Amino acid sequence: MASHDDGHVKRVVALAEYIARKEGADVNVVVKAAELHDIARGQRNHALKGAEIARKLLAENPEFAEKVAHCIEAHSFSSGVKPKTIEAKVLSDADKLDAMGAVGIARAFIYSGENNRSLEDTVKHFEEKLLRLVSCLYTETAKEIARERHEFMLKFYNRLKKELEFAQISIQAEK
Ligand code: NI
Repeated sequence: MASHDDGHVKRVVALAEYIARKEGADVNVVVKAAELHDIARGQRNHALKGAEIARKLLAENPEFAEKVAHCIEAHSFSSGVKPKTIEAKVLSDADKLDAMGAVGIARAFIYSGENNRSLEDTVKHFEEKLLRLVSCLYTETAKEIARERHEFMLKFYNRLKKELEFAQISIQAEK
């Protein structure tokens, strides 16, 4: 699916590496985790499943494998695993940032196209998820990057809602 394709993984790797350096996290762990974080996308509980796959792939170095696996299992809220390490916090932040800003908006609509989700339901997705991401970040570096992205998304959301409401009012006036 284009909303979670190679482009998404590459952007998350780049964001994660940048944040890791700024935050003094282990860059090798973070980059490997970012590369593998969506390896089980499409499967039930992809974060836990992805961590399991990473453990197997990196079995030669169990200590490294465990660090990477923890990042992956904790990168998604749905797994119920909270990030315990700075590396896991960095990956979670990088993944959230790629769902924000202009890229976040574009990905939301690609996803809607893929899943036949209506414009109105996409607006709901902004309210329920995208506009809340800003308060789900752990690192200061990510919060700094997020500020502008959140502002832009909010502006777009308000504008979209206004145009949709205008249509609603026009329809009602005709009745
Ligand atoms: Ni992801």
